Amino acid sequence: MELDPQDLTSSDRYKLLIGSVVPRPIAFVSSLSPQGVVNLAPFSYFNAVGHSPMALMFSVSQKPDQSAKDTLRNVRPVSEGGTGEYVINLAVESYVQQVAEAAEPLPYSQSEFDYLDLTTAPSQVIAPPRVAESPVAFECKTLQIVPVGTFNVVIGEVVHLYVRDDLVDDNYHVNTDLVAAVGRMAGYDYCRTRDRFTIANGFPPEKKAALDATA
Ligand SMILES: Cc1cc2nc3c(=O)[nH]c(=O)nc-3n(C[C@H](O)[C@H](O)[C@H](O)COP(=O)(O)O)c2cc1C
Repeated sequence: MELDPQDLTSSDRYKLLIGSVVPRPIAFVSSLSPQGVVNLAPFSYFNAVGHSPMALMFSVSQKPDQSAKDTLRNVRPVSEGGTGEYVINLAVESYVQQVAEAAEPLPYSQSEFDYLDLTTAPSQVIAPPRVAESPVAFECKTLQIVPVGTFNVVIGEVVHLYVRDDLVDDNYHVNTDLVAAVGRMAGYDYCRTRDRFTIANGFPPEKKAALDATA
């Protein structure tokens, strides 16, 4: 079938997008309100932007009443009522239940940490704490928030990283089996990241040799 997104309802566009863009990594974002309340929420419209500078993005929808989600309020610059800082923790197998539970829409004055079996650990460079149980945590400062219709894409620069010692070798290769990250599929489905295969970039040697011979 051929579909024009503008002919579809928002809910149908959502189903088509999250069923097709799979798996999506999940940012488990801890942020701090100006009043000092630590917020925690998962976002699977999430990815890397680049590594020079090291930057990440995630995209936030509105609440059903069209107001801003707590995370968006917090990550806005100080001049716009936020604190402009946040930690992107990973979503991993050992606490994926808490990742799902953190999507509970609590009042702005309440912290998800009070209801989940997860603990905070202080960050090194920014004020919001990281999730102590997260094997990797990216301390971020908001670079830009780009409005895209009813969404806001938050782009942040990583100003510090926490990586659990046993996860990286001397060359900074990460042991992804030990990280055990989970991804978001459609609906309430998640996937593991341990079913892998290896393919080198570009043409394989025989194909390259044949190409070179004709050049
Ligand atoms: C795995 C998962 C992924 C999610 N991804 C997003 C997302 O990418 N964008 C978004 O706006 N909400 C997403 N949500 C919903 C938010 O987590 C939810 O609205 C949450 O209450 C927002 O919290 P906050 O108001 O404390 O920021 C996701 C929920 C789950 C469980």
